[in-house]
Amino acid sequence: MIGGCDLVELVAEFGSPLYILDEHTVRTACRQYRDALTRYYPGESQPIYASKAWNCLAVCALVASEGLGIDVVSGGEFYTALQAGVNPEQLYLHGNNKSSDELRLAYDQGGTIMVDNWLELDLLTAIASPDQPARIALRLTPGIECHTHEYIRTGHLDSKFGFDPQQLPQVFARLQQQPQLRCVGLHAHIGSQIFERQPHHDLGDVLVGWYQQARAAGLPITELNIGGGLGICYTEADDPPSIEEWVKTASQAIATACETRQLPLPKLICEPGRSLIGTAGLTAYTLGSRKQVPGVRTYVAVDGGMSDNPRPITYQSVYRAAIANRFSAPLTETVTVAGKHCESGDIVLPTAELPSSEPGDILAVFATGAYNYSMASNYNRLPRPAAVLVGGGDAELILARETYTDLLQYDRLPSRLQLDATTNR
Ligand code: LLP
Repeated sequence: MIGGCDLVELVAEFGSPLYILDEHTVRTACRQYRDALTRYYPGESQPIYASKAWNCLAVCALVASEGLGIDVVSGGEFYTALQAGVNPEQLYLHGNNKSSDELRLAYDQGGTIMVDNWLELDLLTAIASPDQPARIALRLTPGIECHTHEYIRTGHLDSKFGFDPQQLPQVFARLQQQPQLRCVGLHAHIGSQIFERQPHHDLGDVLVGWYQQARAAGLPITELNIGGGLGICYTEADDPPSIEEWVKTASQAIATACETRQLPLPKLICEPGRSLIGTAGLTAYTLGSRKQVPGVRTYVAVDGGMSDNPRPITYQSVYRAAIANRFSAPLTETVTVAGKHCESGDIVLPTAELPSSEPGDILAVFATGAYNYSMASNYNRLPRPAAVLVGGGDAELILARETYTDLLQYDRLPSRLQLDATTNR
């Protein structure tokens, strides 16, 4: 059961594979962030949802209805949040190479632009006017290492994101001469799926150091944004702090550093993605073919794989799974769950302890709410799965299943390539 719905019935109704998102779990995580910030941070605060984890109309609207702002990283994510009815003043546009069109969209709508580099300062100076300055924050690279996969580490100095803090005096001097830009905040994000608390404690100190520099330079900074990064449990081996513990660490670091330096408390913003939505989602697959390699392993294949969840092949991520229609049966087999893509590395779970199973059984893979749908592709021309939002025993479609016709939506066949149906030439 998930959200009061029988998972096997959901698959019968909506098809397979199927993304399933539990509304209550998402709302609970939103409230935990909000409540912990209120409890542990003595100043103003707001969590904003890093929607790259799962950006679609329903998720944007759901999270915004809990009072969260939304971090978007492209014109497409910005547009989706707008279409979901999110107040543009609650939108924060990120990205290390925003186009002029993306910057203009955010500016025209009154969103906050997280400026990442000098080119963006130039582009925005040309786009914005002094009587309606662009609301911006600066993204900086804090030089803080954390233990996570190399691809999802962003805080170390050799990173493509953000200004080098050494350049702050020049950036501040530039902003002083630019009435088109109103810089209200400073931001840093150090990475994702982090289990230690120390890096965000250190980041709090670093942010307040920059805040002091900015105030000394006369900039009207009122917001510090500590990014996201809190890890979740994919397997029993994962042991992340709770949302409350993580928020407490960041809040206390910033509040203490401000007190020590006798600075007024800024508004504290954090930007969780994975920890807001990761464990609220699961993917249901249908089991198909099986191959036994004697003395080596047994492969059991599902009807999806790296196109709906590219995380195992990209980051060697490990998941847990269960057979939904044999949930309490004893675990008698160790198998490798393979995807259906033409690629040997398309493995959903390298080792899964499962009951004995047969084709047609429903496999539930847990904690797929973050960076699964949002990173999905049509590799091998597989249509993307549908997604349903469940709660209180009801299930509603939030993403329709793609069809073969959808796959051809953007194909164009030049007339000189049209084949003769009889000769095929
Ligand atoms: N803020 C910024 C500026 C970010 O770049 C990110 C994630 C977040 C917030 C949210 O981080 P979270 O709370 O989700 O850790 N595709 C990878 C994760 C990439 C994360 C990118 N940035 C994965 O599947 O593990």
